[in-house]
Amino acid sequence: MASDMSSLLAEDRPSAAAAKAARRKAETAAFAEAVLEGLSRRPRSIPSRFLYDAAGSALFEDITKLEEYYPTRVETALLEAFGKEIAECVGDTDILVEFGSGSGRKTSLLIDALPGLDTYIPIDVSEAFLVEAAKRLSGKHPGLTVKPVVGDFTRTRTLVGAPRGARLGFFSGSTIGNLTHEDAKAFLANAAHLLGKDSRFLIGVDLKKSLDILIPAYDDADGVTAAFSLNLLARVNRELDGDFDTTKFAHQASYNAREGRIEIHLGSLTSQTVRVLGRSFAFTKGERIHTENSHKYSVPEFQALAATAGWRPVKAWTDAEDLFSLHLLRLA
Ligand code: TRP
Repeated sequence: MASDMSSLLAEDRPSAAAAKAARRKAETAAFAEAVLEGLSRRPRSIPSRFLYDAAGSALFEDITKLEEYYPTRVETALLEAFGKEIAECVGDTDILVEFGSGSGRKTSLLIDALPGLDTYIPIDVSEAFLVEAAKRLSGKHPGLTVKPVVGDFTRTRTLVGAPRGARLGFFSGSTIGNLTHEDAKAFLANAAHLLGKDSRFLIGVDLKKSLDILIPAYDDADGVTAAFSLNLLARVNRELDGDFDTTKFAHQASYNAREGRIEIHLGSLTSQTVRVLGRSFAFTKGERIHTENSHKYSVPEFQALAATAGWRPVKAWTDAEDLFSLHLLRLA
């Protein structure tokens, strides 16, 4: 494993432990501010990044294994079926930069398909995920140098100390769909800057489709997605001295056809008052808290969006049922 991991793994060093505690404190303060502000405005909302604490991340992992949740399964199958062809279209690649640290399986398939690869750089805000991902991938791909970067990949502008060489970006899971069109454009422009001239970018993007398939993917029969969604309120209770009764809110997934996106809300099942950090929030029956958007793009729609940030389409791969797409882009 690359020596860069030493700085991440040195938890026995008091300075590292103190830095970690400081980060956790800052994250709780940011959560408090976002919740108090988001519950005070209309419509109410809480930013989706707070869905992913340890409990939420474990539940999301369960979502990716659900029969109804096709994105993970189909994207993995696309990489299995077209890995060789993708690698041919990508051409020589020395460095793979992954935005988010992924589940490892998809990344492994891509790494296996890229013969000349020597460095893998995952970027993630969660140090714990990075350490896990780096361990797993170094174990599976001996000889590969892993250089994790702790940071918000929508804001990381340069990779300090990264080796020279041909770069491929990878952004899977249709996470780009969780950004507004405007934020997705900004992300793509930032990634262009970070990856640099002559780079290529492989992005997994969920396609528009029938609501019979789309809605259950975000509201499964076993209630795993509902548990993931409601964990946000449980997290408020745990971390912000909240008293949400999670049996009095319901997970709701609906499709906004005008915006081309799934919208996730938590709806109040009764008229009730909730307290968070000593403040009271009165909910009417049916009043909702917005927590996430998941935009869906046809192949030409996504290519048009990418073009606004300077990315040209090389090729797009889709499955036989047109559920999911993998876009290969290059910088003009
Ligand atoms: N990137 C995932 C998606 O848009 C995130 C996600 C899946 C999600 N299921 C969810 C977010 C349910 C909130 C609630 O498909």
